[in-house]
Amino acid sequence: MRKKLIAGNWKMHLNTHQASILLHRLEEHVETHRDVEVVVFPSLMNVQPLNVQINRHKMKLGAQDAFYEDEGAYTGEVSAAMLHSVVDYCLVGHSERRHIFGESDNIVGKKLAAVVRNKIAPVLCVGETSAERAANETKQVLHDQIMSGLRNLTAKEVEEMVIAYEPVWAIGTGDFAKPDQAKEAIDTIRQNVRELYGDKAEKGLRVLYGGSVNADNAGSYLGVDGCDGLLVGGASLNYKEFSKIVASAHSKVGK
Ligand code: PGA
Repeated sequence: MRKKLIAGNWKMHLNTHQASILLHRLEEHVETHRDVEVVVFPSLMNVQPLNVQINRHKMKLGAQDAFYEDEGAYTGEVSAAMLHSVVDYCLVGHSERRHIFGESDNIVGKKLAAVVRNKIAPVLCVGETSAERAANETKQVLHDQIMSGLRNLTAKEVEEMVIAYEPVWAIGTGDFAKPDQAKEAIDTIRQNVRELYGDKAEKGLRVLYGGSVNADNAGSYLGVDGCDGLLVGGASLNYKEFSKIVASAHSKVGK
């Protein structure tokens, strides 16, 4: 059985002190369950202090981005090699990286390969803009992002990875996708992976939904066939709200 995964993307919020307090609160409130993994993605600045603080029996730690070269003259960047043994997971190709920082599918593919090469579990983010959805291009966009994102990976590596479906129009807007829209996109992702990497890879792959997830709507996505969890932005900064989201994953997998 695939473990559920509830991920909290803290984005560029919280100084080191605030991040430490939020982690502390989460560790007090988030219940553990053998079939539910919980991962927090603080800013890169706070990854190292939280690596020391975090209780890995309760929660795992992730980075929001990593550069694709292991070392070199790349001012301002942090490599996946440097994050190795500090984080368990790394986001790759989040829509804010793609749209604000101009990361192409090609760059995303190189970053994904670097993360895997450095033994960090990748969460590849894919999703269409509202214009692409309106033009009926969602399936094509997902196909292209998957083709190019995964191009350097083996079937075994794909089997062990995570893909988050995050429609750009739903991120930080409150305009969350309807569960049947999420289902259609998740089916498309799974179908692409099956065609490119085979049944075994698709069966192991975990697919998440993300975009304006909160404690009220979380359960509706967790009930979608083929959806293995959630990537939560804004609501992950509130420990009560995030703990409720984790609790709704527990209720889906049973005691
Ligand atoms: P949101 O962000 O939950 O605030 O919409 C989701 C994300 O960016 O991963």
